[in-house]
Amino acid sequence: MDLKTLDATFVAPTYRRFPIEIVRGSGSIVYDEKGKSYIDLTSGIGVTSFGVADETWQKAVTQQISLVQHMSNLYYTEPCAHLAALLCEKTGMKKVFFSNSGAEANECAIKVARKYAFDNHGEDCFTIATLNGSFHGRTLTTLAATGQAHYHELFQPLTPGFIHIDPTMEALREAAKTHKIAALIVECIQGEGGVVNLPQEFLKEARAFTKEHDILLICDEVQTGNGRTGQLYAYMNYGIEPDIVSTAKGLAGGLPLGATLLSEKVQNTLGFGDHGSTFGGNPVCCAAALSILQRIDEQLLAQVREKSELLREAFQNAKGIQSVSGMGLMLGLATDRPAGEIVSALIERGVLCLTAKDKVRLLPALNIPNDTLLTAAEIIKEVCAEK
Ligand SMILES: Cc1ncc(COP(=O)(O)O)c(C=O)c1O
Repeated sequence: MDLKTLDATFVAPTYRRFPIEIVRGSGSIVYDEKGKSYIDLTSGIGVTSFGVADETWQKAVTQQISLVQHMSNLYYTEPCAHLAALLCEKTGMKKVFFSNSGAEANECAIKVARKYAFDNHGEDCFTIATLNGSFHGRTLTTLAATGQAHYHELFQPLTPGFIHIDPTMEALREAAKTHKIAALIVECIQGEGGVVNLPQEFLKEARAFTKEHDILLICDEVQTGNGRTGQLYAYMNYGIEPDIVSTAKGLAGGLPLGATLLSEKVQNTLGFGDHGSTFGGNPVCCAAALSILQRIDEQLLAQVREKSELLREAFQNAKGIQSVSGMGLMLGLATDRPAGEIVSALIERGVLCLTAKDKVRLLPALNIPNDTLLTAAEIIKEVCAEK
């Protein structure tokens, strides 16, 4: 049986795969089974922060694997404590809970919010408000949080206690009149929702409003985090300070790791036994994350912003590209031709891109060389210009 048949026969059919198999890579270049090379502008949906088979990352992972690959959370392990300390040092947050994915990082954030609200405002304060168009994960609770009805339809009933509002102050104020809101969850730039930047004014005013009413502000930085937007976390572009930050994807550069960062206000909301995860804080994943986070410094972030500008300039007035949304190296192209058609045509031309709703989405590695990026941009422009 060839690989495609084997996969189609035995892997649950939840993913519509593109017709290529990736067998190896180096940085932002990956190769298929026939040896054809592709410029990778997907980085595993924002995961391989420093590219494929990055040497620093490999060294950190193999070193830790040769020491101890896993111990339960019943024991101390060095990478977990050091990573938590570094995350707190870089963000001003006070404590970190580690899990394995973005959905789990959000689950933890929601549990913290529910318990904080119960402890401080009573048992009828439990509503979690999220934004229309948002995406927060695929577990039943994070699906309930996700503000896109089509994800909900087949899986009723979802976890109760969620409402979805437009990103306007009128909508938030109105919701707060009819519900006792425990938390508001936002993605500063909605990723799966179509690379949509939230208005800066809304984020600022929503932060002031939530502070005033002791509603927790949770920033879902699963996709936007870890340098992706040209700041360590996207909220840092907006001059706001959330109470909780959830992140995953690029944090460990290609190994599963979720993190929920807790500010002073909620640092002790969960106590012994209130939450847990067998793999959360796994030493190999944490060692991998340390090798990533230690390199996301001011210089690297400036380079991300510079690469973003290069792309924006390349796409300016390009035929077939109507507009560019997003920030840093998380960009969405609104195109004349359907995004799916463009992404398929780009595979033929040796460039891997993503879609997000009706846009072509680019999430390249943070260290993609400028010439590689510009070569890819030229090919994208050519494909977008075709009828
Ligand atoms: C903003 C956001 N939150 C949560 C998730 C869920 O993350 P995971 O697939 O790691 O559970 C995603 C995944 O795309 C995401 O983009």
